[in-house]
Amino acid sequence: MVIAKTLLNEEQIQTRVSELAGIINKDYEGKEILAIGILKGAFMFYSDLVKLINVPLTVDFIVSSSYQDTASTGNVNIHSDTRMPVTGRDVLIIEDIIDTGISLNYIKEIILKKLPNTLKICALLDKKDRRLVDVNVDYIGFQIPDEFVVGYGTDYNDNFRNLPYVAILKQS
Ligand code: IMP
Ligand code: MG
Repeated sequence: MVIAKTLLNEEQIQTRVSELAGIINKDYEGKEILAIGILKGAFMFYSDLVKLINVPLTVDFIVSSSYQDTASTGNVNIHSDTRMPVTGRDVLIIEDIIDTGISLNYIKEIILKKLPNTLKICALLDKKDRRLVDVNVDYIGFQIPDEFVVGYGTDYNDNFRNLPYVAILKQS
């Protein structure tokens, strides 16, 4: 697999991340956020986004996986759950990309069982055409076409996560 072309460059991503932070700052004025990042994919988006959030915020993470090569296995594995108390908190899930919706739907149900005050979802990338499960995403960075992408946290078998941009991957 090789990188075919850049889909979103660093500047486009950083501009959108700061726009999203601005909207989130307004929506959560007077509140405190429990920001739950979905690892590993969300690590870069998560850290860029939380730096620009100016309401009180605590961090936590869920480590999950569902992908092998370029396809979802349909099974969501939770390798590590949240550690902070969730009950009564205003939770914001931060995810890299929503594809079929299976992972986010599963994770959302796990968090809802812990009775948060509110639960919202922020995803950097959305491949809407591929949705199999309907999940309401409150904040979306970019709608992208049905292509397999890597970079800015997203991966192909754990490679390319460190790229500061998002690129389309193609068979070599
Ligand atoms: P879903 O359960 O099908 O919505 O998939 C969500 C997860 O699959 C994301 O959090 C990513 O980790 C991974 N994923 C989906 N599409 C891509 C892609 O194009 N590149 C890399 N990872 C992807
Ligand atoms: Mg992910």
